[in-house]
Amino acid sequence: MTQMQTEVPIFDLPAQFEEEREELMEIVERVLASGAYVLAGDEVAALEEEVATFVGTDHAITVNSGTDALTIGLACLDIKPGDEVITPPNSFIASTGAIVHVGATPVFIDVCDDQNMDPEKLESLITPKTKAIMPVHLTGRICDMDPIVAIAEKHGLKIIEDAAQSMGSEYKGRKSGTFGDVGCFSCHPLKNMNACGDGGLITTNDSDIRDRAIRLRNHGMIDRNTALEFGFVSRMDNLQAAILRLRLRHLPDVVARRRRNVEQYRAEIDTDHVYIPPCLDHEFNTFVLFVAQLDRRDELQAYLAERGISTGIHYPVPIHLQPAARYLGHKAGDYPEVERQADRIISLPHNQNLSESQVSYVCEQINRFYMTG
Ligand SMILES: Cc1ncc(COP(=O)(O)O)c(C=O)c1O
Repeated sequence: MTQMQTEVPIFDLPAQFEEEREELMEIVERVLASGAYVLAGDEVAALEEEVATFVGTDHAITVNSGTDALTIGLACLDIKPGDEVITPPNSFIASTGAIVHVGATPVFIDVCDDQNMDPEKLESLITPKTKAIMPVHLTGRICDMDPIVAIAEKHGLKIIEDAAQSMGSEYKGRKSGTFGDVGCFSCHPLKNMNACGDGGLITTNDSDIRDRAIRLRNHGMIDRNTALEFGFVSRMDNLQAAILRLRLRHLPDVVARRRRNVEQYRAEIDTDHVYIPPCLDHEFNTFVLFVAQLDRRDELQAYLAERGISTGIHYPVPIHLQPAARYLGHKAGDYPEVERQADRIISLPHNQNLSESQVSYVCEQINRFYMTG
């Protein structure tokens, strides 16, 4: 190993802060001085309008996290105990967690080699109890939405998109969050449109869903003294909304820089050993994570760590094999493609502040590992 080792972080939030320091500090000062913090001030309503325009829905509703967007979104669709919701088990735990929290039963579906739900497996999972499909646009790769929408329509099912990782991703010119009854986004710090804390958004074209989401995020209240139903406390604060307005303006640049990383990885990694799912012409993928699939993953991860390259695994244990899901009675082997990928996926360093030479260094080290190994 060389002594002058290049350090390559998987994420780099301090670099993002340095780029935006002046704008962020102006926001912090302005919002704190205003004294308008929660359910006050203009930033939340302005963000909701701007996100609705960007995504292409009639409404966007801020909440406190992507998980809350999913939970409140499901509640707005009247998903309740006894209902089944079909979703892939290779997502972050929150997708299934939200289904469980409204009392419904998650029904898992296996995935294609691009990690997204396999629409060909959908119909066989539909029962009289099925109420909704929850596709997850994992890593910011858009799902194959035409067949999913067609099957939902044929069977009278709702669609709730887990678009937590896919702000700005497109399928045939339409953005994620516009295909279902409800779209759910996360503004977690590690997302492309990220808050400096937690945040989430619901998108919809249905004004009844909008009204219900607005009351459910604030205890079910319709005015100061009237609760129409019991709700949650899931309000985005004015400060995060102001930061997110800035980050929405920066999003096209962030995504362009991230897509450049991905193109460079594709060009420089030896694909005899590494599988990078292709992007189809009708997709615009935003890549909140860049995930490759390969053999000897754990060995490679240790090899890269020794060379200053940090990586991650999103996610090593599929949800159906988590202790929390034991009551559903699944076992290893139930979702073969998800399980195969769980042993092969690696999230390579990927953020808008990586330099070309850092990406080249990662590719060189990966290629050398397989050449010499
Ligand atoms: C696919 C997916 N769904 C849901 C969530 C939950 O979002 P949050 O962390 O904002 O609650 C995440 C966040 O990581 C996610 O990646």
